[in-house]
Amino acid sequence: MSDRYQSLIHTPVGQLLAKNLGLPNPVELDRWSEGDPLVKGTVVVGGEGRLTTEVTAALDVLGISHTDEVTEEGRYKGLVFDASGLTSSDQLVELQRFFTPKLRKLESSGRVVVLGGPPEEAADARERVAQRALEGFTRSLGKEVGRGSTVQLVYVSPGAEDAIASTLGFLLSPKSAYVSGQVVRIGAKGAHKQPAEQVDWSKPLTGKVAVVTGASRGIGEQIARVLHRDGAQVLGIDVPQAAEDLHRVMTEIGGDTLTLDITAKDAPARITHHVKEQYGGVDVVVHNAGITRDKRLVNMKEDAFGSAIAVNLTAPERITDALLEDGAIKPNGRIIGVASIAGIAGNVGQTNYAASKAGVIGLVDALAPDLEDGITVNAVAPGFIETKMTAAVPFTTREVGRRLNAMSQGGLPVDVAETIAWYANPASTAVNGNVVRVCGQMMLGA
Ligand SMILES: NC(=O)c1ccc[n+]([C@@H]2O[C@H](COP(=O)([O-])OP(=O)(O)OC[C@H]3O[C@@H](n4cnc5c(N)ncnc54)[C@H](O)[C@@H]3O)[C@@H](O)[C@H]2O)c1
Repeated sequence: MSDRYQSLIHTPVGQLLAKNLGLPNPVELDRWSEGDPLVKGTVVVGGEGRLTTEVTAALDVLGISHTDEVTEEGRYKGLVFDASGLTSSDQLVELQRFFTPKLRKLESSGRVVVLGGPPEEAADARERVAQRALEGFTRSLGKEVGRGSTVQLVYVSPGAEDAIASTLGFLLSPKSAYVSGQVVRIGAKGAHKQPAEQVDWSKPLTGKVAVVTGASRGIGEQIARVLHRDGAQVLGIDVPQAAEDLHRVMTEIGGDTLTLDITAKDAPARITHHVKEQYGGVDVVVHNAGITRDKRLVNMKEDAFGSAIAVNLTAPERITDALLEDGAIKPNGRIIGVASIAGIAGNVGQTNYAASKAGVIGLVDALAPDLEDGITVNAVAPGFIETKMTAAVPFTTREVGRRLNAMSQGGLPVDVAETIAWYANPASTAVNGNVVRVCGQMMLGA
């Protein structure tokens, strides 16, 4: 789906109108292409805390150029501030001291990352307050920076300091183009199975098997392509009616196919049997297949309500249970759900869809604390993504969805796929129980 407004506003006349009338002026976001360095430019590192040395070590492993000195004429692609040493609110002014003089030196599609410690794990009440305050700071700066730049807060548990590389690599690179204003948690439970130095950062999923449901088109197709790009063998699943498209996509990426309806009674057993027989198990499971059956509740039929719940929530629950019970998910495996911002903020006409997507977040919450062997569960919550699903949305609602976010534009399926590839990375074992919105920091709702 093309964004005609964005094309028009980039003409000389469009730029003049945008400037004089204060119209949204979406910039073209940097996106990562195979062969590119992770970051095209230098990252400034500052702050003082327990993460500073680990940050520079991680940037070195990732091949990202960094400095702690800013020059008069310097321009920078990223700013990283270690705020884990802030133990009381009067120290929060350190954020202003670090960022204010540097923000004008941040290039377009720049990246800001603030690192702290989870407030609930703070040593005392004052530290807890100071760490919690970081959330308001980063979410506001995300709405201020503009020019395609993003701002995130990463809470790193004590003991997980050496597990930050995959997250920094994602958040500082163009792979996180449409992710902003997010709070990511890196926990200490379960040491990461694959140290960052042992990951092949150009093909991190080499030797891994990934299952993607709803892989014949839209976001699922892009997830399959990105996981394949990162080295995975992909098994794409879709309904029989989508078999032709599924085969085309999977043939292009040397993948495997399974055509079934994920709500079928025998679907969990068939998927489990297939991955065990063909590959001895699975490393990455992405529950992407989803449907909408929108109607205000006052007009909703039982069928419409039930089918959205069955496809979006009950099927992922049953498939996950079957795979876990059978031991089909390999150590350091990944379970990844696709929720939606509708599941966080709610939406008119979507009581069924929003319930199913909030339930996907519930699935993450329920499973995350108890998974073993380095297996993790996380979800993405996409906002307005340009697909056939959103092309069918009425014009006014579509324009509101597109513009009312900090990027003033819709995201692309690849933006969701890149976020999933970060969760799937073998060095992301400490990234567990997260729900990250891929919404360009949507202004509506929560
Ligand atoms: N497009 C957006 O803006 C957006 C926003 C938030 C969340 N999402 C979520 O992202 C996911 C992908 O969305 P999309 O826009 O690519 O949708 P899409 O309709 O283009 O693709 C969904 C895919 O799932 C498959 N599918 C549907 N029911 C199935 C079933 N019972 N068994 C097996 N496969 C089935 C479809 O055949 C299709 O290939 C969905 O879970 C959706 O809810 C999308």
